[in-house]
This record gives sequence, C-alpha cells and structure tokens, in this order.
Amino acid sequence: MKAMKKSFSLVFFLPFFLLAVIYFVIFPNEFRIQSSLATCDGGGTAAAVAAADAVAKAAPDIRVLLGVLTRADKYERRALVRLAYALQPAPVRAVVHVRFVVCNLTKEEDAALVGLEAAAYGDIIVLNCTENMDNGKTYTYFSAVPRLFAGDPYDYVGKADDDTYYRLGALADALRDKPRRDAYYGFLTPCHNRPEVQYMSGMGYVVSWDVAAWVSATTELQNDLVGPEDKLFGRWLRWGGRGRNVFGAEPRMYDYLDGEMRQGPTCFRHLLQPDTVAVHKLKDNLKWARTLRFFNATDGHASPLYNVDH
Ligand SMILES: *[C@@H]1O[C@H](CO)[C@@H](O)[C@H](O)[C@H]1NC(C)=O
Ligand SMILES: *[C@@H]1O[C@H](CO)[C@@H](O)[C@H](O)[C@H]1NC(C)=O
Ligand SMILES: *[C@@H]1O[C@H](CO)[C@@H](O)[C@H](O)[C@H]1NC(C)=O
Repeated sequence: MKAMKKSFSLVFFLPFFLLAVIYFVIFPNEFRIQSSLATCDGGGTAAAVAAADAVAKAAPDIRVLLGVLTRADKYERRALVRLAYALQPAPVRAVVHVRFVVCNLTKEEDAALVGLEAAAYGDIIVLNCTENMDNGKTYTYFSAVPRLFAGDPYDYVGKADDDTYYRLGALADALRDKPRRDAYYGFLTPCHNRPEVQYMSGMGYVVSWDVAAWVSATTELQNDLVGPEDKLFGRWLRWGGRGRNVFGAEPRMYDYLDGEMRQGPTCFRHLLQPDTVAVHKLKDNLKWARTLRFFNATDGHASPLYNVDH
C-alpha cells in the first residue's frame, strides 16, 4: 500500500518535473527571458521597470553564466541567494545569468519541490551526477554547460559556492576588457606565495567559453576528479596549458570578516569594501544580512513594513 502510494506520487510528479527539465534544456532562451525579467522587475516598482528598460536599450557586449553549485535540499539558502541576486541592480551592458546547479534529484521530495522551483524560476540546472562536494561535480558542470548552451554560447562561464555573494555588475565590468579566450579569473590562492601551484579559490571563478569547451572535450580529466575541486581545476588547466590569461581579483574577492569575529584580517580575509567583486564564507543569515546592507541592496526596495521600526 505504502509502495503503491509512493509510486503513485512519483508517477504523478515525474511528468511535471521532466517537463520542466526538458523545457529548460530545449528552450533555455525562454527561461533566460523570463528570469531576466524576474531579475529586472525586482521590487516591481516603476523605477525598477524604467531601469530595466534603460538596461535593455544599452545592448549587452558581454554574456556570463554563473553556476551556483548547491544541493537540492538547501531550499532556504537557495531562496536567500536568489533574493540577493534579484535585488541587485541589473548589470549595465551585460547579461549575467545566475543558475543553481544540483546533481540528480534522488529523493522524492526534492524531485517534486525542486521541479516546482525550476518551473517557477527557470534557474535550476540538474546535472547527471551524484551529489558530492569534491568528487567531480565541478567537472560535470563545466563539461555539461558547453553542450547545454551550444546554440547560444556565453563569453564566460563561472562557478560559485552557495556561500559566496558576487556583485554581478562588478564582475561583468571586471571581465569586459579581459581576453575572451584562454582566460581564468578569480581569487588566486594560496595568496601569490607559490605561483607554480596557484589556482583560483573555489569561492568562485570564471573561465572563457573556450576553456569550458576544452574541459568538456577532454575526457582524460575524468581520471583526475578526486580532491578539492578548485585545486583540481587549476591542475587541469596547467596540465592542458589552458587558461593562461590569469587574472587574480584580490583584494576585490575575499572571505567575509566583521568586527565581531575572533579572526583577524589576512591576505584572503578582510572587512567588506565598496569595490567588491565577490565575498565568500557567508555561512549564516546574519552575514548575508550585513553584506546586503553594506552594499545597499535594499535601496529602492523599501516597503512600508521595512519602515515600521524606524
Ligand atoms: C549519467 O551518468 C551515469 C553514471 O555516470 C551514466 O551511466 C549514464 O549514461 C549517464 N546518463 C546520461 C543521460 O548521460
Ligand atoms: C541520474 O539519474 C538518471 C535518471 O534517473 C540516471 O539515468 C543516471 O544514472 C543518474 N546518474 C547518476 C550519476 O546517478
Ligand atoms: C551605500 O549608500 C550610502 C549612502 O548613500 C553610500 O554612502 C555608500 O557609499 C553606499 N555603499 C556602497 C557599497 O555603494
């Protein structure tokens, strides 16, 4: 009986979910339009709509895909990160698509609920992998993207952790004048002291499309999937002689620090600064809240509720 019930709900939800996934794969552009609308009208204010119109008029000259690698069951974090990006001012003359990247939806509730999210927001990419941190998900992501978006390639493809907050406009502006080939952008670790083994921190890094295409086409990399994904990625590129245009974004990318923490500043950690490209280690809601407030993320979105306690 229980098994019957289970298979009934599976049968019930599966077509729904598959439709959402198939739709995403076949019509990524439609989702792109939908989601960029969703991003642009943020608070739904007239000012936001006017700003969106102005952005639409300034033709974008750079397109970036940023995949936030997360787990299907991290609903709360995903909602927060989605909100944080929706409230950012839309990047000027740039298209930056933020997508959440999860592995196979193996649990019944995730299959249904993440399927609903995909249908509502169109910002979820489901990879053919088993959820893992340092066991090949990054490889699966970078090798899937060139195939998924073959018809409409991006200039750059990036990955971010779900405790990283990118400022998308700052990222696009930083990438705009960089070479569109053989580029590897991020926070260089370990802090410049050993250039022969350096790689971009897993907080978030971006490569030009040709580098992602190379990862996708290079099956040998499948023999080198065990270990910290950021270090591995750097090793692949060194091995293949790719991503030779290396751009370290420090100190504009860093780990979060505030005055209440026991830690002090280091070469990779310091207080929030206005020209930030990305800040990492946003492990709890308070750190997100302080970060969003620092960057005035709520400006222009104040609601009556927000004003009540002032
Ligand atoms: C998904 O991954 C499994 C295990 O790696 C593989 O056997 C299967 O062929 C893949 N399926 C698709 C559709 O790529
Ligand atoms: C992911 O799910 C698909 C469809 O159920 C299955 O064919 C594939 O083998 C799974 N892949 C992995 C790596 O578990
Ligand atoms: C936030 O707004 C305040 C007041 O307008 C301004 O002084 C500050 O520079 C802004 N901060 C950032 C990071 O843009």
